[in-house]
Amino acid sequence: MSIKYVGRPVDRLDGRDKITGRARFAAEHDYPDLAHAALVHSTVARGRITAIHADAARAAKGVIEVLTHENAPAMKPPPSRSLLNLSSMVIGTSVNYLATDEVHWNGQPVAVVVAESPEAARHAAGLVRITYEELPAVVDFAAEEPNATPQKGNALMPAAANKGDAEAALAAAAVSVDLRFTTPPHNHNAIEPHATTAVWDGDRLTLHESTQTITWLRSHLAQRFGVPEGNIRVLSPYVGGGFGGKGSVWAGTLLAVLAARATRRPVRLALTRAGVYHTVGGRTPSTQRVALGADSDGKLTALIHTSVARTGRVGGGGEQITSASRHLYDSPNIRLRQSLVQLDLLSNTFMRAPGESIGTYALESAMDELACELGMDPIELRMLNEPARNPMDGKRFAHRMLREAYEVGAERFGWRERDPRPGSMRDGRWLVGMGVASAYHPAFQLPASVTVRLGADGGVVVRCGLHEIGVGAATVQAQIAADELGVPLESVRVEVGDSDLPAGPMAGGSGQTASAAASVLEACRKLRRSALDLARKSPDSPLRGVRDPQARDGGLYQGSRGETYAAILARAGRDHLEVAAGGGMLRFMAKTVRDRSRWVKAASGAHFCEVRVDRDTGEVRVSRWTGVFDVGTVINAKTVASQLRGGIVMGIGLALSEETLIDPRTGRVVNASLADYHVPVHADVPRIDIHCLDEPDPTMPLGLVGVGEVGITGVGAAVANAVRHATGKRVTDLPITLDKLL
Ligand code: MOS
Repeated sequence: MSIKYVGRPVDRLDGRDKITGRARFAAEHDYPDLAHAALVHSTVARGRITAIHADAARAAKGVIEVLTHENAPAMKPPPSRSLLNLSSMVIGTSVNYLATDEVHWNGQPVAVVVAESPEAARHAAGLVRITYEELPAVVDFAAEEPNATPQKGNALMPAAANKGDAEAALAAAAVSVDLRFTTPPHNHNAIEPHATTAVWDGDRLTLHESTQTITWLRSHLAQRFGVPEGNIRVLSPYVGGGFGGKGSVWAGTLLAVLAARATRRPVRLALTRAGVYHTVGGRTPSTQRVALGADSDGKLTALIHTSVARTGRVGGGGEQITSASRHLYDSPNIRLRQSLVQLDLLSNTFMRAPGESIGTYALESAMDELACELGMDPIELRMLNEPARNPMDGKRFAHRMLREAYEVGAERFGWRERDPRPGSMRDGRWLVGMGVASAYHPAFQLPASVTVRLGADGGVVVRCGLHEIGVGAATVQAQIAADELGVPLESVRVEVGDSDLPAGPMAGGSGQTASAAASVLEACRKLRRSALDLARKSPDSPLRGVRDPQARDGGLYQGSRGETYAAILARAGRDHLEVAAGGGMLRFMAKTVRDRSRWVKAASGAHFCEVRVDRDTGEVRVSRWTGVFDVGTVINAKTVASQLRGGIVMGIGLALSEETLIDPRTGRVVNASLADYHVPVHADVPRIDIHCLDEPDPTMPLGLVGVGEVGITGVGAAVANAVRHATGKRVTDLPITLDKLL
C-alpha cells in the first residue's frame, strides 16, 4: 500500500531554498551591464507638469538617463477594462506613464532615473525638480462619502440585492440595532516589496517579476510594448508575499521595462517601501451601515447592509463589502447596497478578501450587538439564524459546516467559561473579553493548463505557470500528483512561475490551488490511462487484460498483477509519456455557469478571540485565538494552517493597528513606512489554534476549497466583540486604538 500524501503536513518543497538563500527573487538576478532605476513621484494630487529640471540629476555621478514625458519612448495606452478581456482586469491604473504631463494622484511616477547603482539612481531622483500647474483635487473620503453613487455590479460581483422590505421590517422589529461603521484605507506590505528586472534582447523581453499573474502580465506587456506575447518571458518562481498587491500591473513594472528599452541595458527596479505606497493600490476605506431587526426570540426579520467605498479616478473598482451578508443569515427581508466615490487618489486594488474582510467586520459586529440587545449568547443567535439554503435565492450550499465549526471551536476555546456580563472577567489590571465572529469567503476557480510527464526512471514532472507566493502552492500539487499516480513525493517535481509553462491561473480569489488541482487530477487520470494502454499493447505485460488497476508503488497494479511505470515505458521502448489537461476557456465557462446556477460555494469558519484590555490605558492585547474552518478537504495540514493563521494575523492588524493616513489637503500618504504603518509583530500575536473540519466539498476538485482569504474575514469583528465584552464599549471605527476605549 502506498502512503497517501494528501492531508499530511508535508514541508514546503521550496522551504530549503528559501531559508538557505538559494532562492532568487525578482531583484536578485544579475546581468552584466545591469542598470538600476528609481522613480520620481509627483508631489501634487492633480495637475499638469509645467517644467522638469533634470540637468542636475543627469549630471550626477553614475546616472545613465533620466526619462520623463518629454523624452521617454511611448508605450501604448492600457486597454479599457472588460470581462471579455480578462487580462484587462489586472490593470492597476489607466495612466499611460511618461506619455502624459497629467498628474492624477500625489505620488504618481513622473520620471525615472536610470543609473549604475541603486544608490546613484535614488540620489539623482531626489535632484529632479518639477513644477506643476495644480488643479483642484478631491481627496477626502470622509467629506465625499455622502455623495456616493451606486456601484456597477456584474454577474461575478453583484453590487446590490433585495428581498422583501427590509426597512419596513426593521421599523417593525421587536429588537433592533442600527450601526454605522468606518474603516480606514490599508496598504500592502509584503515582505518582498514589488520588484522587476527587465532584459530586452532586440524585441524579445525577459522579465523577472514578483507577480501573482504571470499570464495576464505577459499579455498586458505585449499590448503596451507592441510585441507578440511569444516574445515575452515572465519568470516568477518565488514571490515574497502577494496578498493581491501583486495581482495587477503597476507603474514600477511598466517603467522598468520602458527604461530597459530606452537605455538598451538590463534594468532592475526594486520599489522602496514608500514606493509601494505611492504606486501600488491598497484597500479602500469604507463607511457601512448594518441594521438588524429581530423578533424577541432572536429570529432575524430584517438585515440591511450598505457600504460606501472609494476608487481612484484612474482605476480601481468595487469591493465585495456586503457579499458575506448575502449568505450568512436567514432573514425574510434583506437589503444590500454597495456605493462608490471616485477620488483623485491612487486606485484601490485587491487586498486579501477585498470587501469581505471589512464587510464581515461590520456585519459580525452588528450581530454581536444584537445578541447584547437580546441578552442572548452570540453563538446561539447565529445558530438560530443559520440558513439551510442560500438566503437570497434558496440555492443549495455546496457544503456548509458553520454549526460544527462553532461547536468544535467553543469546546477547544472554552467558551463556556465566559461570563456574559461586560467587564465581569478580570485578570489583575486587565479586563478580559471573549468574542466570536464568522468567517466567510466564496470559492472560485479559473482555468489552468498543466502538463504531467512520466520519465523512464519513473520520475514525474508537473508543469504549470502558477505562482508560489509563499503558500506552498507547488508542494500541494506535488502531493496531489503523487497520490493520483501512486508514486513517492520525492519523485515528483512541480515547475511553476514561468510563462513558458502551460498557462496557470492567477494567484487570486483564493482560487489558485483548486484551479490547478482540477487540471492536475485530469492530467494524472489521462496519464494512468495512457500508461495502461501502453502496457496492454504488450503481449507479455502483467497488465494485459487488466481493466481498472490501482496506481500505487510507482506503477499500476491489480492485486499482485502489475508493474512499475518504468517497466511499462521500458517494455514499450518509450523514454517518457506526457499528457496535457485544462485550459479550455469555453468548457470552463460552461461548467462555471452551470455550477453557479446550482450551488453556492464557499469556505467558512468560526473565530474565537480573547483580548485583555488595560483598564487604565485602554491598551488591547490579543491573548488567545481559536479558529475552526470548513475549507473542504485539507491537502496539506501544515500549509493550510499557516494560510489560515496568516489571515488571522493580518486581521489582527486590521482590527488593532493598520491605517493608511492620507493628508486631506494634499492627498499624500503620510505614513508610507513600516515605522508609521503598524502591522502586527510577533509580540502582538498569541499562539493561534487552528482546526479544520476536513470534510470534502463535493463540488470542488478533491473536495478542496481555497484557504488564502477566509482566515482574515470575521477577524476584525471577533476582536471588536471581545473588546465589547471586556469593556462594554462597541468600537465601530477601525482600528481599535486605545484612545477609542478611554
Ligand atoms: Mo487575493 S486579494 O485575490 O490576492
